Amino acid sequence: MSKAIFIRNASQLVTLEGSSHAPLVKEAMSELRIIENGSVWIEDGIIQAVGTDEELLAEYGDRLGEAEVVDATGKLVTPGLVDPHTHLVHAGSRENEFNMRLQGATYMEIMNAGGGIHATTSATKAASHQQLYEESYARLDQFLLHGVTTVEAKSGYGMEWETELKQLEVAKQLNEKHVVDVVSTFMGAHAIPKEFKENPDEYVRLLVEEMIPKVAELGLAEFNDVFCEHGVFTPDQSRVILEAGKRHGLIPKIHADEIVAYEGAELAAEVGAISADHLLKASEKGLAAMAKKGVVGVLLPGTAYFLMAESANGRKMIDTGVPVALSTDCNPGSSPTVSLPFIMNLGCLKMGMTPAEVITAATINAAHAINRGSEIGSLEVGKKGDVTIFNVNNYMKLQYSYGVNHVDTVVKNGVVVVKGGQLCEELSFSKNESA
Ligand code: NIG
Ligand code: FE
Repeated sequence: MSKAIFIRNASQLVTLEGSSHAPLVKEAMSELRIIENGSVWIEDGIIQAVGTDEELLAEYGDRLGEAEVVDATGKLVTPGLVDPHTHLVHAGSRENEFNMRLQGATYMEIMNAGGGIHATTSATKAASHQQLYEESYARLDQFLLHGVTTVEAKSGYGMEWETELKQLEVAKQLNEKHVVDVVSTFMGAHAIPKEFKENPDEYVRLLVEEMIPKVAELGLAEFNDVFCEHGVFTPDQSRVILEAGKRHGLIPKIHADEIVAYEGAELAAEVGAISADHLLKASEKGLAAMAKKGVVGVLLPGTAYFLMAESANGRKMIDTGVPVALSTDCNPGSSPTVSLPFIMNLGCLKMGMTPAEVITAATINAAHAINRGSEIGSLEVGKKGDVTIFNVNNYMKLQYSYGVNHVDTVVKNGVVVVKGGQLCEELSFSKNESA
């Protein structure tokens, strides 16, 4: 049982109250439900009360001595940020490809020549479990320092059973050992492995008949994701893979319409995916279908920025009624960042979203994109005590003042884990536990 935490007197406390049942759409994405001079009481890891400082003092004033008090005067308090799309567990980096792209090579050219995803696949295959764990653990520390308390993590740098299993086992172990929650997605369908280049359907068969059933049986993932893209998996192959996942209880997600229009958004709506991600080239018809079905559009403006492509049209998607979430897409090829706040800034400047909308997109809508809307993503009684405190006095300033890490304090499961922008000492004890 952890000590009570009393976060007091924030200049703005963003609660996003009332959003647990479904992601927010249209105008509701701007309704942050801010409390000025706001306070939160957390006990046993769970939020017990949210209100003005005056209200909470009246309720808990006689128990002040029992609590760790966090003074948020002059600060912005939000739900812990949620990153719903990462390739967290991977080995190595690809700055050589960055350099090639700056000189004119394209992302797909590099991949088709055996680099790109294939390069990280070789590095991930070669890495030991311990090495993968340590590299990914360090990235999770960085996520936490940027205010993120939950991340989704995909496999997909193996594309054969042994390495996919290693990645999923590392993600599971990270979820157990690191304070950041890690939610797993199987993405064996991340690329066509080189040895199946001439016969991709045989790889689809392997996924459907062997890998997906094993992942489900071992309980190693909740979601099943496909890179549905020209030159990777066709919409028909993607459908077969996602339907197979569904039969085994894995919820579909899609990397959709990233590089060319390929009816990925339409497919997401058809198979009842929880999210369709990227969507740079999604058609109007596909977006309308997603809005109708409530499929979350996970937008990754860091990827467009890093690949020097035009961003997805977030403004249009919100106006169409698609519930929009934001994510880093953290991966070594197309978005090597952990800074969700920077992604929020790109959401404003590159996708026409407002400062209020990007907060909704990186908290409650992101939580819904990973089926966690009832547990995290808003500050409400009964939810996890996951809170981020920023050193700015209002939410607009968070996006306005960019390129700076404004995170001051992070509370995870009701425990202070980042203080004054630094990881807490106590945290390093759990870090050093045997992996
Ligand atoms: O989401 N688009 C495919 N997959 C990743 C990139 C992975 C990589 O380049 O290593 C993405 O952008
Ligand atoms: Fe991705």
